[in-house]
Amino acid sequence: MSNPVQKNKEYKKFIVDSRLQYFKPHATRIEKTFAEEISSSLGRNLKSIPPKFFYDKKGSDLFEKICSVLEYYPTRTEISILQKLKTELSLFLDGDFRLVELGSGSSTKTRLLLDFLTASQKTTEYFPIDISEILAESSEELLNDYKNLSITGIIDTYEGGLEFLKTYDDKKNLIIFLGSSFGNFSPVDGYKFLEKIFSTMKPGDLFLIGLDLVKDTSILESAYNDSKGITAKFNLNVLSRINDELDADFNLENFSHYAVYNEKDQRIEMYLKSLTEQSVIISKSDLELKLQKDELIHTEYSHKYRLSQIHDLLDDVGFELKHTWLDDKKYFSLTLVSKN
Ligand SMILES: C[S@@+](CC[C@H](N)C(=O)[O-])C[C@H]1O[C@@H](n2cnc3c(N)ncnc32)[C@H](O)[C@@H]1O
Repeated sequence: MSNPVQKNKEYKKFIVDSRLQYFKPHATRIEKTFAEEISSSLGRNLKSIPPKFFYDKKGSDLFEKICSVLEYYPTRTEISILQKLKTELSLFLDGDFRLVELGSGSSTKTRLLLDFLTASQKTTEYFPIDISEILAESSEELLNDYKNLSITGIIDTYEGGLEFLKTYDDKKNLIIFLGSSFGNFSPVDGYKFLEKIFSTMKPGDLFLIGLDLVKDTSILESAYNDSKGITAKFNLNVLSRINDELDADFNLENFSHYAVYNEKDQRIEMYLKSLTEQSVIISKSDLELKLQKDELIHTEYSHKYRLSQIHDLLDDVGFELKHTWLDDKKYFSLTLVSKN
């Protein structure tokens, strides 16, 4: 099968090493998409900023810090499950698999799977997909640590990366989507996204998804309102990014971080609250934003799930359930499914 990545004129190719190449959309496309999406999402009555825009360099660094704050249980809990799972996963792998990761970030958790895959396969291919430049940095670190690893990265949206993968070649893929990032989608968009993953997979491919579970409201709200204020900085940073990249004049002092658990819809809702009546110019989006005092800009959902909901959802899309792993407190889940 020909390699569509190399033919794709929308992307610039970077060859770092014989074992590391990555692809990135041309700068003009990135800037245009950012300006247009902000113009449309902040131009509505119910204002919002898509969460994928959190992850400039500073946002990705702040997310890494969130992962180690005491209140943010998801990262350490998912790591504890991955530590248990890696030996059991081999029971489900017949032959060699390429590891594909959606939203790979710093690839820290990935290492637990790479330890196992690189030890059991002569060579291992890793295909990280992430909208953030952090991908390039993390991939270089992985190369130094795993000698029989080769990496093809896509610095783009999940959807862009999955399009590449669809016609890439005939090798078997183990696709992973960790950190409960799937919980950022609305239920309707999440269902469509799972269908996209399903249609990208070939028979025999596997998909491992990490999802956060419903639990006590106080534990959930503390996780998104940490006492060191790192999540607040992360949330506010998206305004600095818009200032820098879209020539805007947000005054960060006029906004505060607000995160609350919506029990009915089983989700943390994260907002930026306008502390005063104000207007903001976003030049490259051609927008003058008017905000009332206490008006909310929605920045993120983080849905929480019951196990039965996870299983029903995956089953409805057409996946075959292989196994679900949990931690001792049943805070977090990792579910492996296949496409037959
Ligand atoms: C919550 S972090 C999770 C990182 C890591 N997988 C983990 O579990 O710790 C989400 C990651 O996905 C990336 N990301 C967010 N939205 C994205 C999108 N729409 N397309 C591609 N990457 C995205 C971010 O840059 C970030 O690295």
